[in-house]
Amino acid sequence: MEGEGSMNDSKQLFYLKLAFLATEPPNCILSLAIEAGGGSITPQVQNFIVKECLGETMKETTANNRAYIRGILQKIISFVEASSVSVVDCLYEELAHYLTTGKEDLQGINHRICREISFLSSDLNGKDCSNSVNLVASLLCSSNMLEGDTGCSLWPSSLFLSEFILSYPEIFTNKSCFEVGSGVGLVGIALNHVGASKVTLTDGDLSSLENMKANLELNKLCLNVASDITCPSDQKVECRHLAWELATKAELKDQQPDIVLGADIIYNPECIPHLVRVFSNLLEEKSFGEVKKEAPVAYIATIIRNLDTFNYFLNVACESRLSVVDITSNTNVPNLLPYMCTYDRSSVHLLKVSVSE
Ligand SMILES: C[S@@+](CC[C@H](N)C(=O)[O-])C[C@H]1O[C@@H](n2cnc3c(N)ncnc32)[C@H](O)[C@@H]1O
Repeated sequence: MEGEGSMNDSKQLFYLKLAFLATEPPNCILSLAIEAGGGSITPQVQNFIVKECLGETMKETTANNRAYIRGILQKIISFVEASSVSVVDCLYEELAHYLTTGKEDLQGINHRICREISFLSSDLNGKDCSNSVNLVASLLCSSNMLEGDTGCSLWPSSLFLSEFILSYPEIFTNKSCFEVGSGVGLVGIALNHVGASKVTLTDGDLSSLENMKANLELNKLCLNVASDITCPSDQKVECRHLAWELATKAELKDQQPDIVLGADIIYNPECIPHLVRVFSNLLEEKSFGEVKKEAPVAYIATIIRNLDTFNYFLNVACESRLSVVDITSNTNVPNLLPYMCTYDRSSVHLLKVSVSE
């Protein structure tokens, strides 16, 4: 029993650290710290926060990251002071450091917050994920939702699609993959990790594209940024401008991907006919000389916020001879982010799209 207790404690501490690196909200960090201490934030947990959480944060943190750390430290110290446990000196020292250094300079990169999203390893047997990390993606995200429209924020659908990719790498390994509405670029990082032969990430919003480029560089992915999808490129990972309304049949036809992907892209009724046309063109069966390629498929992760909008998407897809199958219930996608309390995966649907026979 003792062994089991200490195993749980180390798992709680591990989750606390990953949640901290993912910049989960202060209340979530506080709950994890209390859980790890068995009901109070013990000196052991406080020392862990200083050594393992603060010690691991990126050296080049943005002003928003520093403000985040300051907020967490203040919350933890207030909680401990109000309890019967004493505050360890190094926690006060860290707070003093974050109160006196790096006065906010909210320019450029400092508009963003850097989130380190750690996907745990798992087998597909429905077991808990292990305590080992499979992939860490560092992502600059908007901290205020105003910048880059929606494309500089991280959405549950792209977390779910990334969990799917990491859990079924064989679907994507050695495949040419093309994503629409890529936002911060997380899905591309997951595709690169499982060995896709080519990863093309696209977005219609230019500031999202700039942020995506910074994220790919941050994750040390070789990339090419072209102003539009017609420029040829031999880079394995690239990000390109693609506005669904403006994409022509000819430029889409040239892409010839094996797999098309999209996360949280079905929400604006005005865009739906254009989005479906983009999918139709990308999924068109290609042949190379005499050799026929396997028919491409698409995977879309989506939250159904408005049923009318979703049904409209299904109708337009059907009129365009696209088959859309909801594969969520018969696909086991393990939770690789159990420490993220802001990630509600229960409402995400996974759709498989192909050209109807
Ligand atoms: C809700 S965000 C999802 C971002 C990312 N896939 C995720 O799940 O984290 C929608 C994305 O689609 C892009 N988008 C929306 N309308 C678009 C359009 N008409 N053409 C191209 N991209 C578009 C936005 O810029 C944004 O990056």
